[in-house]
Amino acid sequence: MSLTLWHHCTLATLQADAGQTDVAQPYGLVPDGALVVQGATLKWVGPLAELPEALRAQCSTQHDAGGALITPGLVDCHTHLVYGGDRAAEFEQRLQGVGYEEIARQGGGIASTVRATRAASAPELQASAARRLRHLLAEGVTTLEIKSGYGLALEHERKCLQVARALGAEHAVAVRTTFLGAHALPPEFAGQSDAYMDAVLRMLPVLHAEGLVDAVDAFCERIAFSPAQTARLFEAARALGLPVKLHAEQLSDSGGAQLAASFGALSCDHLEWLSEEGAAAMAQAGSVAVLLPGAFYFLRETKLPPMDMLRRHGVPMAVSTDCNPGTSPCTSLLLMLNMACTLFRLTPEEALAGVTRHAAQALGLKDRGVLAPGMRADFVLWDVSHPAQLAYALGANPLIQTVFEGQVR
Ligand code: NIG
Ligand code: FE
Repeated sequence: MSLTLWHHCTLATLQADAGQTDVAQPYGLVPDGALVVQGATLKWVGPLAELPEALRAQCSTQHDAGGALITPGLVDCHTHLVYGGDRAAEFEQRLQGVGYEEIARQGGGIASTVRATRAASAPELQASAARRLRHLLAEGVTTLEIKSGYGLALEHERKCLQVARALGAEHAVAVRTTFLGAHALPPEFAGQSDAYMDAVLRMLPVLHAEGLVDAVDAFCERIAFSPAQTARLFEAARALGLPVKLHAEQLSDSGGAQLAASFGALSCDHLEWLSEEGAAAMAQAGSVAVLLPGAFYFLRETKLPPMDMLRRHGVPMAVSTDCNPGTSPCTSLLLMLNMACTLFRLTPEEALAGVTRHAAQALGLKDRGVLAPGMRADFVLWDVSHPAQLAYALGANPLIQTVFEGQVR
């Protein structure tokens, strides 16, 4: 198979042990770097000066990157991209002082998006989600997770997961689907959350058998599902061999992180109210902390996730858009990089690892998120001279080109 060389670039490999010396370079920086691509895979990564002559001779195509910075393709590891309608009216209500939980209790919030999602056809849902997806792709996203959770009945959860799969098939992006049937109580089950969980447990194997589920998630919260109910769902996921993740400790501490960790969760997400025990359990289980500064900002929260505690316990931190109509109508992962730094005090290096290496880990994907031999050839060329500039600028998009599975997108 023919090889392609990318040169005249700085690499931010995001590998902790990259560089020419034994000393780890920040961002895994490699000045005057080179990439050799074979098919959809990276074959060689390093300083151009160290590229073996024999390998270079096999490169039938060469791309001069013009001095660009090259990072791994970005991974948005937590989105609710597929939904009907919008919640601008609720935004106005909240600005007048009505709380997010109060709106949910009055039958608005997630329930209003459920009504709009059920009323929408699959093509309508796909068209609106594709508009959002295009924004993410324009900023270098090459893998994204899409959750269901606004259908809350078999046919509608299926419709949303099928739309997610179709988005992946029709765009140059890898889509991982997550079944979030346990997102909220649908109106037909009002006051019967255990009975609804029974229904969710009936949906899961059906959707799994149809090839629509890569992971299972729930919203463990006082306005959603209890730890005991969540545990029933996770048992069912485990029986099917499906990995789990959890919307945990977003509005209160319900011990969701410990529970998720006891099931070896890929990630626990939000975590503003995470306890020390929760962080320790996550570290033990190898669960990633997915931080969602868009939701924190949009709900005008004041309780920060405990970043220092996460660092102390060695819990890897990812950063994601949480793109959804209610708490984070956000389609800019670059903006999340900035907010992760300004609001959550991540370093730009932590933030960039959060949308690459650690985001891939949060999806259980070992073949992406860093530039290294054997990894997928998903990478982005940026018109910046240093990776910190990706987190620094607000509203700029310095993307030059995205390469997805070895092909310019
Ligand atoms: O990630 N926390 C629960 N789910 C979403 C919000 C859903 C909504 O309000 O529509 C989140 O923040
Ligand atoms: Fe979410």
